[in-house]
Amino acid sequence: MEEKNRKVKNRRRKGEKTGGKQPRVFEKDSLDILRSALDELEKGFSNLLPGVEPIKNNDKFEGTILDVAKRLKNNYPYFHPLYAGQMLKPPHPIARIAYMLAMWINPNNHALDGGRASSAMEKEAVAEIAKMIGWETHVGHLTGGGTMANLEALWIGGQLNPGKKVVASEQAHYTHSRVSNVLGLKFEAVKCDREGKMDLDALEEILTKGDVGTVVATIGTTATGSVDPLPRLLELREQYDFRLHADAAYGGYFILADNLNQTTKPSFDRLSEVDSIVIDPHKHGLQPYGCGCVVFRDPAVARFYRHDSPYTYFTSSDLHLGEISLECSRAGASAVGLWATQKFLPLVKGGEFAMSLSAGREAALKLFGKLEADNRFITAFLPELDIVVWAPVAAKVSESSELSKLIFSEAAKQNLHFALAELPAKFFDFALGKLATEGETITCLRSVLMKKEHLVWVDRIWEILNAVTDSVMDDRKRRKRE
Ligand SMILES: Cc1ncc(COP(=O)(O)O)c(C=O)c1O
Repeated sequence: MEEKNRKVKNRRRKGEKTGGKQPRVFEKDSLDILRSALDELEKGFSNLLPGVEPIKNNDKFEGTILDVAKRLKNNYPYFHPLYAGQMLKPPHPIARIAYMLAMWINPNNHALDGGRASSAMEKEAVAEIAKMIGWETHVGHLTGGGTMANLEALWIGGQLNPGKKVVASEQAHYTHSRVSNVLGLKFEAVKCDREGKMDLDALEEILTKGDVGTVVATIGTTATGSVDPLPRLLELREQYDFRLHADAAYGGYFILADNLNQTTKPSFDRLSEVDSIVIDPHKHGLQPYGCGCVVFRDPAVARFYRHDSPYTYFTSSDLHLGEISLECSRAGASAVGLWATQKFLPLVKGGEFAMSLSAGREAALKLFGKLEADNRFITAFLPELDIVVWAPVAAKVSESSELSKLIFSEAAKQNLHFALAELPAKFFDFALGKLATEGETITCLRSVLMKKEHLVWVDRIWEILNAVTDSVMDDRKRRKRE
């Protein structure tokens, strides 16, 4: 064993000497560490007689996994800094390895019998998220994702305010109207202002009717990263007595960033005053998919989850996560990945994790600055988090939309991946905005700069965008002349 560990260490050391710390396309060194961690885990079961069958047909096994590798080549390079499109990034190597390590056990965090260690790790990891929000007491758990987490928050809202409706902004994630429908709750969308934030005058008009049970504040909209103005929403809650739920699935971790602007920061400073929060570790928390999180400020809401199950809980009288979660079986491995990540990169201001969020925002501001200074583009508002949206200048909204689509596909040919977003034309502050009719939308370009590497890659991103835009625009001029 010691011999093996020495070999692994030597290999790693050699790797470092030969440029092991240089960037690569894929990080693979952690596989050596997985091997030694697996040996360590196995020691915990050394009192058992071997009972697991070896792989019988190695050739077939290898052939199958190579087929899988071939199939997986058909993907955009989500892990690479030139993938700057949708809200996608790879898990941190520590999360990936911890998740894989847990696969040898495959714990189920529904009940303590199914996932003893991983249930404890889930409670600890969620408590760290609650602490990041500013809550010393809470009740919460991991979920399959943001949709399920929001469903639970809206469900509790419906239990506490039966028969009353849910409201969220027009730019809130579509999951809120759909999930309200699933829960049998009425839903109403509130108008947004020109910066993609909930229009609070429009909200107040709805509130005066007295039938709102839950208001969803989006702390970082999916399309533009806009943050609903929480301080004023909290004032309205004093007056109209509704439940305030923060959908911070994408934006929540920015509470740790040190470079938010003066209009955004107050919303994060008062995040602890909402009734429930969704923050997705599988978005900004460096986790594999399948890791959302819902946290409630008042632990007493756990009473709504209570159920009697004669078959799940046999050997422990401790609180089971299945007693505070709507989902039953859940991957214990998700909790293990998150716990390991938070141990390696604690959720503290000024820490490495916090700095990676600040880096994303800085990258977004840098790209925004370049776009704003360039007369081929029009920008919307200053990025509040790490999402930038922009459109090519054209005489008509429809022409600008066409150009966005061309730039999007030409950039992809150069391995630079943006996203397209259909947004209200009123977000764009320029002549095109005036040309746009009320309610008209524009297809614009959108970039989520959510990897810490984006800050050093933003110049390269700009270089490619610059060249691609020139060629698309020259081509259009030539075709117009012909
Ligand atoms: C603000 C917000 N809420 C909810 C969701 C839905 O989360 P999930 O896709 O994890 O179900 C998203 C997804 O992007 C989101 O951005």
